[in-house]
Amino acid sequence: MKLLVTGGAGFIGSNFILYWIKKHPLDKIMNLDKLTYAGNLENLKEVEKNPNYEFVHGDICNPQLVNSLTKNVDMIVHFAAESHVDRSIQNGLPFVKTNVEGTFALLESARENKVARFHHISTDEVFGELPLNSKEKFTDVSPYNPRSPYSASKAASDHLVRAYHSTYGLPVTISNCSNNFGPYQFPEKLFGLAITNLLEGKKVPVYGDGLYVRDWLYVEDHCRAIEFILLKGTVGKTYLVGGLTEDISNVEIIKKILRIMGKDESSIEYVKDRPGHDRRYAIDWTTIQKELGWKPLHNFDEELKATVEWYSKHENWWKDVKSGTYQKYYKAQYVNR
Ligand code: NAD
Ligand code: DAU
Repeated sequence: MKLLVTGGAGFIGSNFILYWIKKHPLDKIMNLDKLTYAGNLENLKEVEKNPNYEFVHGDICNPQLVNSLTKNVDMIVHFAAESHVDRSIQNGLPFVKTNVEGTFALLESARENKVARFHHISTDEVFGELPLNSKEKFTDVSPYNPRSPYSASKAASDHLVRAYHSTYGLPVTISNCSNNFGPYQFPEKLFGLAITNLLEGKKVPVYGDGLYVRDWLYVEDHCRAIEFILLKGTVGKTYLVGGLTEDISNVEIIKKILRIMGKDESSIEYVKDRPGHDRRYAIDWTTIQKELGWKPLHNFDEELKATVEWYSKHENWWKDVKSGTYQKYYKAQYVNR
């Protein structure tokens, strides 16, 4: 089987490629990535010489390129996106461009070249927010209610994917996943930022009251869910993926990280809140469990500890990533506000 993976040099995409090559060594993978600030080929060092792996440097918004690469592929696994909410609040344009226009170009090429499966990686953020202290969860039929430029652009891309199924019969599947953590996460997201700031002797910025809730999932569990959907999923369906944690607040997570790293709460700095900050996410993942037999296999506390260890051992990786243009973003987000 031949897979075209988009955004494979990013956090989840690179974890997926490493996972897939281990599990399916005879399959061929072509990784199309623009290498934005978030793309990093260091993540894929261990497979770069593998004859079944190929990297193509390019933009999913380029229809000619995308069309030429899509010939003779069996599946498109579409991760490429602008993915950080805070950046979308600073400037939404790249989000509309890549997440909407890029997804459109890929759908057109999939239709033209009769690709057997188009799998779209999406997010639980398209459903908006849930109230704190409730048992409510997002389900496969939750209405769309995106509240940031990022989630609005992802919602638009989901609608396009669904429309290509209804209108043209394109064999699509979608997964809407909750927050991932694990190795190779760009240190602008909460876990990577908190751990690397602490390793540098800096404080951890916590937005608002810190009582925001996410449904955290270890990245390998997400990769396994995508594998199950690609191999056993029903065409036309959306699967919700998540569920490793139950209502743990950001500040509780930071306190866990502080304990693992032997630091105290003086390393927490409460900062101005994110505008439109979604209060709570929670995922009902019973459909993928009942239909495909998937459930998270990892334990949150164990993987949190392993993730702290990973960043401690990969100082060169995150120091490179945190230098240069990232400094400009960090100043705009946390210093000059
Ligand atoms: P990331 O920002 O780490 O990586 C995105 C990758 O896409 C990078 O390698 C980047 O270079 C590439 N890219 C960006 N624009 C491109 C373009 N125009 N053409 C080609 N490549 C381009 O993102 P991530 O956290 O790995 O997220 C991957 C996908 O999963 C996204 O679609 C995101 O919406 C979704 N998702 C993420 C999470 C999470 O917790 N990180 C949770 C659920 C869903
Ligand atoms: O839910 C899935 C989504 O999870 C993905 O679609 C996005 O691509 C991914 O970025 C992530 O979005 P969040 O906005 O939830 O993740 P982030 O790591 O930016 O923030 C997690 C929580 O921590 C959120 O409540 C905001 C808060 N936070 C974040 C940062 C960066 C802080 O308190 N301080 C910070 O410095």
